[in-house]
Amino acid sequence: MNTFFFALSIAFAILSTSVFALHKPYYRRGHHGPARLNTPRTDSTNPPGKWAAATNRAKGVVSTLSTEDKVALATGIGWQEGPCVGNIAAIPSINFPGLCLQDGPGGVRFADLISVFPAGINAAATFNRNLIRDRALALGAEFKAKGVNVALAPGMNMVRSPRAGRNWEMFGTDPYLAGEGSFETVMGLQANGLQACAKHFINNEQETNRQSSSSNVDDRTTHEIYLHPFLKAVQAGVVSVMCSYNQVDETWACENDHILNGLLKTELGFQGYVTTDWWVNMEKYKTLAANQGLDMVMPGASFYSGNVSYFGPALIDAVNSGQVPSSRLDDMATRILAAFYVQGQDQAYPAVNFDSWNPANGQHVDVRGDHGNLIRKIGAASTVLLKNSRGALPLGDGVKSLALVGSDAGPNPDGPNSCADRSCNIGILGIGWGSGTANFTYLVDPLSAITAKARSIGANVASSLSDYDLVAARNASMGKDAALVFITSDSGEGYLTVEGNPGDRNNLYAWHGGDALVNTVAGVNNNTIVVVHAVGAIIMEAWIDHPNVTAVIHAGLQGQEAGNSLVDILWGDVNPSGRLPYTIAKSPSDYSADIGPNHDVDYTEGLYLDYRWFDKQNISPRFPFGYGLSYTTFAYSGLAINKLGGDDGYEAPTGPGSSLSGWLHDDWIVVTFAVNNIGPVDGTEIPQLYLAPPDSSNSPPKQLRGFDSVFIPRYASSPVRMCLSRYSFAVWNAANQRWEIPRGTYGVRIGASSRDGKLSGSIEI
Ligand code: NOJ
Repeated sequence: MNTFFFALSIAFAILSTSVFALHKPYYRRGHHGPARLNTPRTDSTNPPGKWAAATNRAKGVVSTLSTEDKVALATGIGWQEGPCVGNIAAIPSINFPGLCLQDGPGGVRFADLISVFPAGINAAATFNRNLIRDRALALGAEFKAKGVNVALAPGMNMVRSPRAGRNWEMFGTDPYLAGEGSFETVMGLQANGLQACAKHFINNEQETNRQSSSSNVDDRTTHEIYLHPFLKAVQAGVVSVMCSYNQVDETWACENDHILNGLLKTELGFQGYVTTDWWVNMEKYKTLAANQGLDMVMPGASFYSGNVSYFGPALIDAVNSGQVPSSRLDDMATRILAAFYVQGQDQAYPAVNFDSWNPANGQHVDVRGDHGNLIRKIGAASTVLLKNSRGALPLGDGVKSLALVGSDAGPNPDGPNSCADRSCNIGILGIGWGSGTANFTYLVDPLSAITAKARSIGANVASSLSDYDLVAARNASMGKDAALVFITSDSGEGYLTVEGNPGDRNNLYAWHGGDALVNTVAGVNNNTIVVVHAVGAIIMEAWIDHPNVTAVIHAGLQGQEAGNSLVDILWGDVNPSGRLPYTIAKSPSDYSADIGPNHDVDYTEGLYLDYRWFDKQNISPRFPFGYGLSYTTFAYSGLAINKLGGDDGYEAPTGPGSSLSGWLHDDWIVVTFAVNNIGPVDGTEIPQLYLAPPDSSNSPPKQLRGFDSVFIPRYASSPVRMCLSRYSFAVWNAANQRWEIPRGTYGVRIGASSRDGKLSGSIEI
């Protein structure tokens, strides 16, 4: 480039930055005051009394440690220097054995003889708190039995763009649903001594440019959408949080005083420690990020190569020179040890018995227990039946010949772990790719499971496992009682690219020409059943209304028992009750947010994410958020809405821990109704409560504020009770920096999806 053009491009860059800066204040929060070094310790904001004893004990122990030891607690020993993806060294003088931090939300990564669970997005699709908790209890037991101290889970970023690569690790597009998923998962993971690590704090909602971009989100949206799952994690007593790769409002998340000291440690009163994501960038404060609220650096070295760490010797120097106060270092070490003590990890906690890098060095402890049964159950409970015409499902006695078409029906011929961190889409898609995945001990493919079932009932199965051989697909499907077409869409973490998809999906269409495959089969078989294994929404317009497509099963990512879970749904051993944790649109352009391609990822849609946007703009979705069919029919009746407490104010307290105050979260309104199973088979209904706020609140037309999973025998009825708190009605007033409850009339909509108002009432607030 010649000098003139170089100078011109620099001038343009400066100009465009400053021009853009003019438009930026809308996103800015304006919290750029001095860092709050020692964030308050209030014990009232977490599960009662949980932290006090552990923190006091940790303080005592920390007072005996040298600066070097305290810094060692805060600095990973380096990549691949220990058996886990992150390792903290032992300090024998205080009987501290060190820490093993290991990925990830789908199973114990880089270990053998473990289970691969249904993905987070499937856990959310159950809309069933008990199952989400059970999944986490089982997952937590496996981590602990492998000797992991800290599970790098759960993921609780929001599904903002439907194309975002890691959406499947998360709990969907609605903050309330994601919050319940986060709460139950943290409770389950930590129930028996494991530490959970809530990630990624915050606004890491895409893979594209994740290590450089800035997510710019207005303060109200931050509070009402993106912070909520972390609030629930803190309520559940989460002991660690991972700050994210991206910048937030032009400051790297891991050196961001506003989000770490301000939102997390002050407003939410978080008492545990904050670790970086692996090799995060920091530019402004680096070592002094300690003053901005960072407590631990992972995996220790700052960069992929070289041995430089933001902490380690640099932190010792910074403490010695007074740039990081020693009280702050004490606070960091206290938080890390308090988390260890509060989880009881000093009492007979198993030692690490696997090696991520040299599997042969591991002890090969089989930690699976009977989790396969639970995984099969959750796999089925998270399967969403989207279409079922002419009584196609469940398959009846009359179905004696089946065709299975598509590569997703069969196994990966090279084995389920043949690609690093599951970075290929060959054979049944049980989980996405990246750090959130794990090695399958086994993976039940649909062909094996369906063939076994068919054999037991005297039915025949023909198959064509090619996605592209349309002649073979046609031949296999012709003349069969039913033809099942399997299609997929995969995604994952951005350090791996699969079939040209760089983590984030290139588009929302089925991979491998899936639309053509469905239409080919539907062209010759009038009972075509489509099975979708996908990381999220796919566009189905090419075939959804085809009269020969009688049923569509959206199975998500079911984990290691995928084939068996599917059999349970197909033959009706399980009556489907999964619900969509996101909207399926008719066109990609119907969604309010897409992957931001530039440095600045401006969340201009604000509160209008997913169904909130479809409602506001009156866009008809193909399938709305919360939607899913059953093999039976439910009727709703008898809505009653009653206030429990008095009207003691409409403005929440401010100050440390205020966002978790009892005033805000205690039960306030109780909503009751009855659900009747009026069909001939037992089933589980997922009643959902949406609040429609008054216009004065400037809120989306309606927002999920309650749901339940209710099993109801055929022809029986069940009472349902949902409680709302002040928080259910509150909006974040950015100017006043507190939660406030707009007064007025609130609509209360009860139904089986976000677009299904089976019952409606209202309440004056
Ligand atoms: C980067 C990912 O973003 C994070 O989720 C993971 O826990 C770490 N790598 C460690 O593998």
